Amino acid sequence: MSATIISGTETAKAIREELKQEVADLLEKHQIVPGLVTFLVGENPASQSYVAAKNKTAHALGIHSEQVTLPEDTTEAAILELVAKYNQDAKIHGILVQLPLPKHINETKVLYAIDPAKDVDGFHPVNVGKMVLGEQCYLPCTPHGILELLVRSGVQTSGAEVVVLGRSNIVGKPIANLMLQKRPGGNATVTLCHTRTRDMAVHTRRADIIIAAVGVPKLVTADMVKDGVVIIDVGVNRIGMSESGKAILAGDVDFESVKEKASFITPVPGGVGPMTITMLMKNTVQAAKQAAGLN
Ligand code: GUN
Repeated sequence: MSATIISGTETAKAIREELKQEVADLLEKHQIVPGLVTFLVGENPASQSYVAAKNKTAHALGIHSEQVTLPEDTTEAAILELVAKYNQDAKIHGILVQLPLPKHINETKVLYAIDPAKDVDGFHPVNVGKMVLGEQCYLPCTPHGILELLVRSGVQTSGAEVVVLGRSNIVGKPIANLMLQKRPGGNATVTLCHTRTRDMAVHTRRADIIIAAVGVPKLVTADMVKDGVVIIDVGVNRIGMSESGKAILAGDVDFESVKEKASFITPVPGGVGPMTITMLMKNTVQAAKQAAGLN
């Protein structure tokens, strides 16, 4: 039997409709327009396309957005100065610095400089700490999107064996943490595998839910999963270029073979990706409401 495809595109569309209404209400009732600034430093093609998509989505929802595009050789001091400026800008409720930054810039230092109240990516240590404690905060966008996909698809996470592949600060660590918490999409028993895990397949074969976020195309194959597994594929790997110059993408999971064993699976593209952007919009609207004392 073939798996049910969890469409991030469709789920994201539904959440965006809710957000569009919320943005319209904020304008009508409170004269508030949520504002987002995105920073793009250098010429990483994936980052360029992500930032463009973030600004386009903001625009479509009625969120004010500004893009700061800086050359590869921008100094750390110049970025810190701009972040400080936007921290003070009342029109801007959310600040997003697209990662990775060029090697000569200390990413941690830049992320620490963002006002936690405007940290719509949820990367500032104040927000990371609150997340771990289960307090109200901005949840990092990709893990937040994964929780929404699981909950809205009716996947039972409570008591489930979840295996997370990858220990990044952006996906692996936070999703592992969120899924063990007492919350919707949580209450799971979580194992986190990484590059030093001795035998990954031993873990994936007993998983009810696999969250793959390693950045290795088609790493997870059918022989590594059990029947009925739920697959959330976070990988966005560029494996080639079409004749029209578009990137050909593959996930971390071998979709074609694994979908024959899985009960649910997210595709790449059209799975987690659209959800990440949508949760950024949700956090930006939340930031605007909080700045106005509305929640
Ligand atoms: N690079 C890859 N994913 C992300 C993300 O969610 N936010 C930012 N700022 N950079 C990223």
